[in-house]
Amino acid sequence: MAPGPKSAGEILSGWLAPHPPHLVYGENPPQNEPKSRGGWESLRFAYEACRQSLKNLKPDVIIVHSPHWQTVVGHHLLCVPKLSGLSVDPIFPHLFRYKFEMNVDCALANAICDEGKSLGLTMKKMENPEFRVDYGTIVALHMMNPDWDIPVVAISANNSPYFYDDDIAQEEFLKLGAATRKAIEKTGRRAVLAASNTLSHLHFSREPNPDLPEDMSQEHIFSQAQYEWDMKVIDMLRRGDLDAYFRCLPDFMRETFAEVKAGSLTWMLAAMGMPKTPAKFHGYGSVIGTGNAVMEWDLAAGGGK
Ligand SMILES: [Fe+2]
Repeated sequence: MAPGPKSAGEILSGWLAPHPPHLVYGENPPQNEPKSRGGWESLRFAYEACRQSLKNLKPDVIIVHSPHWQTVVGHHLLCVPKLSGLSVDPIFPHLFRYKFEMNVDCALANAICDEGKSLGLTMKKMENPEFRVDYGTIVALHMMNPDWDIPVVAISANNSPYFYDDDIAQEEFLKLGAATRKAIEKTGRRAVLAASNTLSHLHFSREPNPDLPEDMSQEHIFSQAQYEWDMKVIDMLRRGDLDAYFRCLPDFMRETFAEVKAGSLTWMLAAMGMPKTPAKFHGYGSVIGTGNAVMEWDLAAGGGK
């Protein structure tokens, strides 16, 4: 458990942290049963390059928002001090069967829950000790910190964006970000945030080589149009031009089925106070055709407020 509020809390950094299970599969950690010959190195090495800088920050907690923990009513938060079990990707069970073990910062989860309610959001704590944590949460957290020695908080993706108007949905995530920030400040946590989002999300309907999923001779972006969208968005984030990003967000989501529709990136940018800090670009790669970027907003280096 992270320490109590000794000092003012702050957000140290935020990561765009994509979660294809292929990344864990390619890395072959002991927790994952299926073994590979590697693959998707451009993304895996991008994550590796950032791990030490994350450790150097000595955060109390990593908070992740995952599109694959879908909740229909409200925003849910893991709130069990120690969670462990086997997480299996329902689409790629041959790639991801991962024995997870994590410490949850329940005091912070409680605080986010309270702050969300006070902003009019529907919030719920997930207190079932048998809960199976989703691969979107686990892959992002594993790739950022495979040692699992930093407590975590995980937030579900209320999937109302898939039913309601985009504007209403994004409004919810802005409030969720504000609630997260307030809770971090009140509890005195030094937090790192993770938006577990792929960018463009149109993908192959079949694995190109079922006998060798890591066959990189078969991996490529789904379409040139999708690639160009991803580069346009990455460049806006690299320049810190969030106004341009949010202006084109509805088109980006519509044209590429972008997974940011699940709200993780909007939540994170809102929590960070819509920083003008240019995001550092660490790497880009396709996974079964989807576009994925590892990017980092280093607020501790200054200019994040
Ligand atoms: Fe996903």
